[in-house]
Amino acid sequence: MNIIVLNGSPKGDVSVTMQYVTYMQKKFPGHDYQIHNVAKDIRRIEKDCAVFDGIMGDIQSADLVIWAFPLYYLLVCSQYKRFIELIFERHAQEAFLGKYTASLSTSIHFFDQTAHHYVHAICDDLGMQYCGFYSADMRDLLKKEEQHRFATFAQLTFQLIGEALPVQAEHTPLVWPSWSYTPGRAPVPVGDSGKNVVILTDSADSAENCAKMAGRLMQAFSGNATLINLHDIDIRGGCLGCCQCGYDNTCIYTDGYQDFFKKTLGAADIIIMAGTVHDRYLSSTWKQFFDRSFFKGHTPSLGGKQIGFVIAGPLGQLPHLKEALNGWADNGGCRALFVTDEGEESAQLDKLLDAIAIRLVQGAETGYIPPHTFYAIGGHKIFRDSIYGGMRIAFQADYRYYQEHKMFDFPQKDLQTRMFNAVFVPLTKIPAFRKKVFSDIKFHMIKPFERVLRDA
Ligand SMILES: Cc1cc2nc3c(=O)[nH]c(=O)nc-3n(C[C@H](O)[C@H](O)[C@H](O)COP(=O)(O)O)c2cc1C
Repeated sequence: MNIIVLNGSPKGDVSVTMQYVTYMQKKFPGHDYQIHNVAKDIRRIEKDCAVFDGIMGDIQSADLVIWAFPLYYLLVCSQYKRFIELIFERHAQEAFLGKYTASLSTSIHFFDQTAHHYVHAICDDLGMQYCGFYSADMRDLLKKEEQHRFATFAQLTFQLIGEALPVQAEHTPLVWPSWSYTPGRAPVPVGDSGKNVVILTDSADSAENCAKMAGRLMQAFSGNATLINLHDIDIRGGCLGCCQCGYDNTCIYTDGYQDFFKKTLGAADIIIMAGTVHDRYLSSTWKQFFDRSFFKGHTPSLGGKQIGFVIAGPLGQLPHLKEALNGWADNGGCRALFVTDEGEESAQLDKLLDAIAIRLVQGAETGYIPPHTFYAIGGHKIFRDSIYGGMRIAFQADYRYYQEHKMFDFPQKDLQTRMFNAVFVPLTKIPAFRKKVFSDIKFHMIKPFERVLRDA
């Protein structure tokens, strides 16, 4: 079988994900493997069409295409995202049509589902036959049972292809809002009580709905907001995954991104992120913005801020994108509100944009951040355990931050609960005691609230 691996790690061959690919090569030596470091080489692929065409030619003759990538901010890295954009921009979809495909990622399982959902949907858009995904923890391959699991996945994938079994597409093509937003009369500006508002956009064309939505918001904040185009920030490239920032939060790049992030975004109370859907995410420019914030490690670096996502395009048809943006905000300790142009009606969109401006200011004035959901609660436990454990040496700045902010909140440190359990769990072995406890359990559950409600 002719297998093409599209390597999505900016680290090229020196990549954890590629160790899994090498393992596959060793376990199944009967196949021909060709690896393209598309994330690492993205500049060359972008500039030199012959390089891009060469990769497409290889794909054309492949029996299986493997999307192998590390998770970067709930998705693939910006360089890989750019490669996917190029496929559509250069009308190269034909090369992928009907090909069997699978995705393989390594990560610490923080939002691996959104990344694979994205790649699966892209494969469906390309008319490929998606055999499934394998989401490995970074260190899985060091364990015998995980080696076996991974080899079994590969074997089942090869079997499926060998038997030419059909695979059903799971994503229907997107239906795009196809209209032009015409903002109405300028809104009554919202009193912003001196709140610092930053509007970020990647829109390169003032005629786009995204740019017009951002413009309307500028008016809603009576021009006091700062409008920044991501293209105007000195960002020299995507995150390289080198992790050198892990020691003291200093990025290896010496461009303008860190200053912009710390000074401009750090000082903002409200950040509006205006973007247009590109394939099934925002643009790779937006992805680069998110990826580069990795220099702040696994800390809530924009915590406490109100975030307005202003999206042009079919967000309602992209649950994984909504989930990723919500997950990013929740995990970062922010409040997220959304407006899209999917209503296809200018007067209504005016009202929605004016309303989000009011709601964001009210949120900033009250300091309201919603309680965390599963995204952040689960994320915290993953990061806490990793930074305390195996990732501590690489992410020492995180370790210091977690210590300072009492984020190593392991349940075994809760002595009161431990003592309670030590006494009462054994007592439930006594049938009469157990009967009493379990028959009254719903009353025990509400008992602690008595005092709060009496005092309320
Ligand atoms: C910028 C950046 C963002 C990351 N984002 C995530 C993430 O969202 N979820 C996750 O589980 N791991 C995340 N990781 C961890 C990587 O996915 C993980 O280390 C991966 O195994 C690296 O693979 P590679 O060596 O092949 O590049 C991130 C790492 C970097 C450098």
